[in-house]
Amino acid sequence: MTKYGSFPGTRPRRLRTTPVMRRMVAETRLHPADFILPAFVREGVSEPVPIATMPGVVQHTRDSLKKAALEAVEAGISGIMLFGVPEDAKKDAVGTPGTDPDGILQVALRDVRAEVGDELLVMSDLCLDETTDHGHCGVLDAEGRVDNDATLERYAEMAQVQADAGAHVVGPSGMMDGQIGVIRDALDQIGREDVAILAYTVKYSSAFYGPFREAVASSLKGDRKTYQQDPANVRESLRELALDLEEGADMVMVKPAGPYLDVLARVADSVDVPVAAYQISGEYSMIEAAAEKGWIDRDKAILEMLTGIKRAGAQNILTYWATEVAQKLRQGPAAAQ
Ligand code: PBG
Repeated sequence: MTKYGSFPGTRPRRLRTTPVMRRMVAETRLHPADFILPAFVREGVSEPVPIATMPGVVQHTRDSLKKAALEAVEAGISGIMLFGVPEDAKKDAVGTPGTDPDGILQVALRDVRAEVGDELLVMSDLCLDETTDHGHCGVLDAEGRVDNDATLERYAEMAQVQADAGAHVVGPSGMMDGQIGVIRDALDQIGREDVAILAYTVKYSSAFYGPFREAVASSLKGDRKTYQQDPANVRESLRELALDLEEGADMVMVKPAGPYLDVLARVADSVDVPVAAYQISGEYSMIEAAAEKGWIDRDKAILEMLTGIKRAGAQNILTYWATEVAQKLRQGPAAAQ
């Protein structure tokens, strides 16, 4: 046979012949411990409320959240990231439910922590957007702009009440300058050096958050472009990363995941702390919607997306499919192919 370069001596297809061969040479493996489940809990409801924009995801009641946490433990995932949805009437300009020890997020943290102990990492979203009547991630100044430094004071207090309520890990997601340093200080001041910070370090202003806004009944009008990053930039992400590490982030996150795999790879290459990625609501709903129409093989598409995110450099992945995927992985390779 004619020689073309190293062909026919070299044939990469030999390593793709059978499922076991492909499994052996796979460079990326998903494991239940990779995953963190984001979960919503809504105040004052007696039944879980389906989220129309995220088929299969609900706003939990206190009870159904506890069940979801136990299922997560059974499935062997690592964490649950909680978002509280307070009663509308309780939202105000400064996001009072976020610092009220009886606010829904704090109540849920106590519930879940009592249920799972240390079997699952209990994490809390640390941001004001779920609790403010204007829907922004911070408090506003007289001109209606998000006031960075006044917001930091609110975040410091939130970190303390979330730690008191049982969070192992807090997840600051508001993209205020200086938030990691201020939160670390606030935790240390109350003797909670043990509480870790998973920083939403690289967070883009994304259209893919759309479905989430219904999930938390957001009151936002306008956008978050003065604090979340411009999708056009990558150097800016490396700058945010350096700052968060200096300020004391224990783990860093890139969000969204799918449209930003290049950013994720750059971040993962340049740090020595664990790197997480958040596969957000829009990434979830796109696949669910296409699957519902019969346009895509749902289960295969989910695994491919998650494998891509891990391959790009994420050690941990926040995904609304966390429990389901972990259950499948535990059933063995056939169920997860
Ligand atoms: C802010 C926050 C958001 C998400 C997680 N934390 C919304 C936003 O920044 O607009 C989005 C998560 C998702 O879309 O799945 N508290």
